[in-house]
Amino acid sequence: MKIAIFPGDGIGPEVVEQARRVLAALSLPGLKLFEGDVGACAYRRHGHPLPAETLQMAKAADAVLLGAVGDPECDGLVRELRPEQAILGLRKELELFANLRPAKSFPNLEHLSALKPDIARSIDCLIVRELTGDVYFGEKGRDRNASGDVVGWDRMAYDASEVRRIAHIAFDAARGRKRRVLSVDKANVLETSRVWRETMIEVAEDYPKVTLAHMYVDNAAMQLVRDPAAIDVLVTGNLFGDILSDQASACVGSIGLMASASLGARKTEFGTFGLYEPIHGSAPDIAGQGLANPSATILSLAMLLRHSLGLESEASRIEAAVEETLNAGVLTRDLGGEASTREVGDAVLARL
Ligand code: NAD
Ligand code: IPM
Ligand code: MN
Repeated sequence: MKIAIFPGDGIGPEVVEQARRVLAALSLPGLKLFEGDVGACAYRRHGHPLPAETLQMAKAADAVLLGAVGDPECDGLVRELRPEQAILGLRKELELFANLRPAKSFPNLEHLSALKPDIARSIDCLIVRELTGDVYFGEKGRDRNASGDVVGWDRMAYDASEVRRIAHIAFDAARGRKRRVLSVDKANVLETSRVWRETMIEVAEDYPKVTLAHMYVDNAAMQLVRDPAAIDVLVTGNLFGDILSDQASACVGSIGLMASASLGARKTEFGTFGLYEPIHGSAPDIAGQGLANPSATILSLAMLLRHSLGLESEASRIEAAVEETLNAGVLTRDLGGEASTREVGDAVLARL
């Protein structure tokens, strides 16, 4: 079993360190770890945010665990050299088109939510975000308009085959849950979304036991804070999924709690090849201070063990240890506590 670990920038190395301790505590036989550079640190060392050797390391592994990338010092770089390109490049090169972002409230911890406790209770939603298409990967450019003003543009597009494959992921996931899919789009305005919606309806025919509903993204943003517990599987495009998942994390508690799995079609000996990362970024405002919540990364490791290595019981044990840690009140500052990143790691290890 080979895991490639890419700590990245900012709080990335801090949160990955705690996940690595948790992984070590499992003493998995036959596990090999590899470490690579991504993001701003890779740009500084190798002149590129996603060096060829890092990409090669990812391809040779059964799974990748990534911290976060991003550095304000790189904001002035051309787009191709920005740290964020490392993540986008990995997703595209590895064809990881399905991003699963579970947002589930922790029992008895609804007070951690940014919402009223009654509304935050019993959230159990899976955001299925398409990850290799949409305006993220459309052609981009800069022109001048007739009056000489600069114009920036990004092409937004989905072809039906891209929508079809993410639809199947969402419907398959719904079959093992409450059998409801909510497809979020902007079909009242965007042609991209009209293709999206038509394709969702077409794929739904293969899943007679799953109900499909549609919602415009503006309404969805509102319903997500008004009644998040009503949502089972929420499937949407790359950009809307990015935005709605940060919002969902605050409904549960904090962005420091929300894990993700990015999957494609490639199978490994033990499961599906995937890249696992917290949904948050490098958090430059708190980096290097031991304030970051490592839970999202530790929970991403649990998803890695489940989906890529077939280690369901280890995954569940980690999830239980994180939940018990939260319930014991060992909380970082984002959750109103005073525990350090490492103290949360210690508490999870003690419970494991
Ligand atoms: P961010 O997610 O890094 O931070 C947003 C806010 O949440 C900040 O106040 C931060 O302190 C807080 N936060 C984030 N993670 C936390 C954690 N684990 N514990 C406690 N608090 C946490 O988003 P941003 O500030 O918009 O972006 C910062 C940089 O990260 C940018 O360069 C951006 O492009 C990049 N980014 C990378 C990823 C990724 O690597 N997957 C995701 C999002 C943003
Ligand atoms: C995320 C991040 C990335 C995205 C950025 C860093 C490219 O925000 O993983 O949610 O927009 O997908
Ligand atoms: Mn994001």
